[in-house]
Amino acid sequence: MSDSAFHYVGGVLHAEGVSAASLAEQFGTPLYVYSRDALTRAYHAYADACAGRRATVHVAVKANSNLAVLNVFARMGAGFDIVSSGELARVLAAGGRAQNTVFSGVGKSAAEMREALEAGVKCFNVESIPELHALNEVAKSLGRKAPVSLRVNPDVDAKTHPYISTGLKSNKFGVAFGDARATYAQAHAMAHLDVVGIDCHIGSQITEISPYLDAVDKLLELVEQIESDGMSIRHVDVGGGLGITYDDETPPDIGDFVKTLLDHIEKRGHGQREVYFEPGRSLVGNAGVLLTRVEYLKPGEEKNFAIVDAAMNDLARPAMYEAFHRIVPVVKRDAKAHRYDVVGPVCESGDWLGRDRELAIEQGDLLAICSAGAYGFVMSSNYNTRPRAAEVMVDGERARLVREREEVKQLFAGESILPD
Ligand code: LLP
Repeated sequence: MSDSAFHYVGGVLHAEGVSAASLAEQFGTPLYVYSRDALTRAYHAYADACAGRRATVHVAVKANSNLAVLNVFARMGAGFDIVSSGELARVLAAGGRAQNTVFSGVGKSAAEMREALEAGVKCFNVESIPELHALNEVAKSLGRKAPVSLRVNPDVDAKTHPYISTGLKSNKFGVAFGDARATYAQAHAMAHLDVVGIDCHIGSQITEISPYLDAVDKLLELVEQIESDGMSIRHVDVGGGLGITYDDETPPDIGDFVKTLLDHIEKRGHGQREVYFEPGRSLVGNAGVLLTRVEYLKPGEEKNFAIVDAAMNDLARPAMYEAFHRIVPVVKRDAKAHRYDVVGPVCESGDWLGRDRELAIEQGDLLAICSAGAYGFVMSSNYNTRPRAAEVMVDGERARLVREREEVKQLFAGESILPD
């Protein structure tokens, strides 16, 4: 397995010191299981590489917003990167601080801006001129100045899946590189904005450092121009995006990645600026698995299907991006493996979790879908009126339910029928 928090003991998969079979027994399936130790180690890999440097880590809440997960990071002093006032509320409920939170996103509403400004977020990562105007108005109505960074689109190829590549000209994100200097000048002229930084985010599941170095070079070139126009850029936010091993990918080590970027920025003569990182997947992805039970085995002429109780509504990534997640048995069997498509009960052909997997399994067996800690539960839905899964956090020998399994009656509690 790609992360030692999940390992076999006597042929049974364990999360830290707890058997995954016993977790499924106790909490039912489908079940998301997170390892506190894996979260802690991934965070430390970033934080240790930042220690003694002018650099800070902002956990991208969108990757996994469970309060217990956010709280593990908050206790270690993490900052956060949010994209909605809902995520801000989660950060605050989990013990995070608004003062350490940056607000990203291409379509913040005026109400969200107001909430974030009142809470005192550290910076708004703004993506367009109309958004600058909107933020200026909101700040004016509160008699405040809003701290602003512009998300610049550096037009570099992150060499990842097109749906999760965000730094190309053709993407909806950021201010075009060629327009950035003029946009900064506009921001500077707005009375209720305080220009403090520059940011980018070039994509996700990136497995090479070179696109980051290209992006940083372009950003720093702009910073020099902007400062010669009379503004002062205190921080450079390089976004998130570092990839993880789902299968055989070999992303750079987190510490090497951080160090390489910080050294590069320093060498370019910008070491006085604070560098922000916004990692999501690389902090939580391999800290979670999704446990599911085999409902039926359905042999076929062309394919064998293992129909499991988790589905595309629980883990959307395979259906949405054809993403690969390793699938392993919770209890290893000494039997002949067969090739299966692992599919869910949802009425869609796109409802699959893994294709052509060699598995020695029987009806009723448990499987673990690996690397499910990022963009797993957070992207789940109630399609087919399926209650969302429960979430559990393991900490050494202990396991704690950190989100109850939904009940069907909750799913339509806010609905009503016409009176006549
Ligand atoms: N900062 C910003 C502004 C972002 O848009 C994102 C992710 C991150 C940070 C964190 O990126 P990470 O370190 O997790 O790559 N649902 C897709 C991934 C979408 C990523 C969106 N932005 C997936 O399941 O692969």
